[in-house]
Amino acid sequence: VVFEKSSKASYLVAKEIADLIREKNKKGETCVLGLATGSSPIRVYDELVKMHKNEGLSFKNVVTFNLDEYYPMNAESIHSYHYFMNEHLFNHIDIPKDQINIPNGTIDQDEIASYCKAYEEKIAKYGGLDFQLLGIGRTGHIGFNEPGSHYNSITRSITLDQLTREDAAPSFLGIENVPKKAITMGVGTVFSAKRIVLLAWGHKKASVLKETIEGEISPQIPATYLQEHNNTTFVLDTEAASLL
Ligand code: GLP
Repeated sequence: VVFEKSSKASYLVAKEIADLIREKNKKGETCVLGLATGSSPIRVYDELVKMHKNEGLSFKNVVTFNLDEYYPMNAESIHSYHYFMNEHLFNHIDIPKDQINIPNGTIDQDEIASYCKAYEEKIAKYGGLDFQLLGIGRTGHIGFNEPGSHYNSITRSITLDQLTREDAAPSFLGIENVPKKAITMGVGTVFSAKRIVLLAWGHKKASVLKETIEGEISPQIPATYLQEHNNTTFVLDTEAASLL
């Protein structure tokens, strides 16, 4: 779906999430959300905060799982995805802290595998993700599933691509400060979500979106796997869709 303005698109995505939360609330069920970081979803979070403040949208029955975190990374660092999520969403809504899950960037190296397995099991324990919000990196990554990621991959440690680190460099004030690794949900984890919405804005994403939507499914562009998901929508602005 292509919108002239990302603001309108973000509002409609937030509305879909809010409607899902309300529907689940009515049934007394937990709503399990997979959340993303990056600049693309910021406006969606702003709208959800507004809906919480103005319409009484409650997150008390919402459980969240974030896609990824840099490794190593302290939760308190301004560069962490923990910090990002608190700033843009969690500090402004009524979600209980113990219902928030974000990969831990301080876990010991030799415990990463068991930590990731437990993260995966926790998602499954809640019956899987009801809704997964995604952005896309210029390498074609979703979460931090860089080129080469298997479609069946699960939560794990990954080495970041050079291009991904270059794109992150300005906010880290230099590429030398960007971590070389991350912990990310796998493609398989994302794929198991009942509903997926991928957001992309701006001309810089146009070429990877052309490959993602019109190209052949390939591990070289992990986002192409989404072509086979039965309930995924790409929400783009006109610039991001300009090469389609
Ligand atoms: C990071 C995140 C991704 C995100 C991507 C795009 O690499 N790990 O989940 O989709 O950035 O970021 P942006 O939305 O700022 O373009």
